[in-house]
Amino acid sequence: MLVSAKEMLQKAKAGHYAVGQFNINNLEWTKAILTAAQECNSPVILGVSEGAGKYMTGYKTVVGMVEGMLEEMGITVPVALHLDHGSYEGCLKCVEAGFSSIMFDGSHYPIEENVEKTKELVAIVKEKGMSLEAEVGSIGGEEDGVVGRGECADPEECKMIADLGIDFLAAGIGNIHGKYPENWEGLSFETLAAIQKRTGDMPLVLHGGTGIPEDMIKKAIDLGVAKINVNTECQLTFAAATRKYIEEGKDLEGKGFDPRKLLKPGFDAIVATVKEKMELFGSIGKAE
Ligand code: 13P
Repeated sequence: MLVSAKEMLQKAKAGHYAVGQFNINNLEWTKAILTAAQECNSPVILGVSEGAGKYMTGYKTVVGMVEGMLEEMGITVPVALHLDHGSYEGCLKCVEAGFSSIMFDGSHYPIEENVEKTKELVAIVKEKGMSLEAEVGSIGGEEDGVVGRGECADPEECKMIADLGIDFLAAGIGNIHGKYPENWEGLSFETLAAIQKRTGDMPLVLHGGTGIPEDMIKKAIDLGVAKINVNTECQLTFAAATRKYIEEGKDLEGKGFDPRKLLKPGFDAIVATVKEKMELFGSIGKAE
């Protein structure tokens, strides 16, 4: 059964480790992440962007696929199905479809509007027993070839949003989605410490988990990060393994053209990447 991410992240924050959110795109990715979580006895969050939801034909398909897998794979670790960077409308659709957790990304709105919309969603998800992530301070990334540093959130605004009754908070601390540029200045631990001070027990979320040096990940966890999102790294590892299989001509041998065989190296690569991250985040063996 899908669970809200609230309890697993409160436990992670108290236990000084982080739960990974790994984004899914299709059946193979979902199965790979669930396989890794079960083998590691680790809680896990499956992230679904609005684009990935659309690709998989819609949120109802995603819920059906994930719920079916939990049962038929005999998954016993806590699993949350979470909308990643949702719009207000996207959040409502996922509530309707049966997700167990949503993120409302109101970071591009003026703070008053972010507060207003987040507040409305708090009331909706509470009634359903779902968890809600909100965001303050936009998380950078590549746009038209220009890589933004990622805005640092204002700790006072973080407190305003945290006090609305959300379950966990994504705050920009110089992190960006995708690959980090050579001249990236690193995470702003000063900002993170100030946010943690103002928001107390609120589990904090680190987006853009791909390519952040291990020591920075560990320090971020020490300073209150309890959820770390990883997407690009799974994409890179999946693409590299699939490419290697094809370049070696394996798809031309025997039944290599069979989609199940063709996608197997990529599947194995995701299982390995997710396990590595769970080890780094300290979530192995933390499922109860
Ligand atoms: P990366 O793609 O950089 O790993 O970031 C993932 C993420 O933050 C999804 O919300």
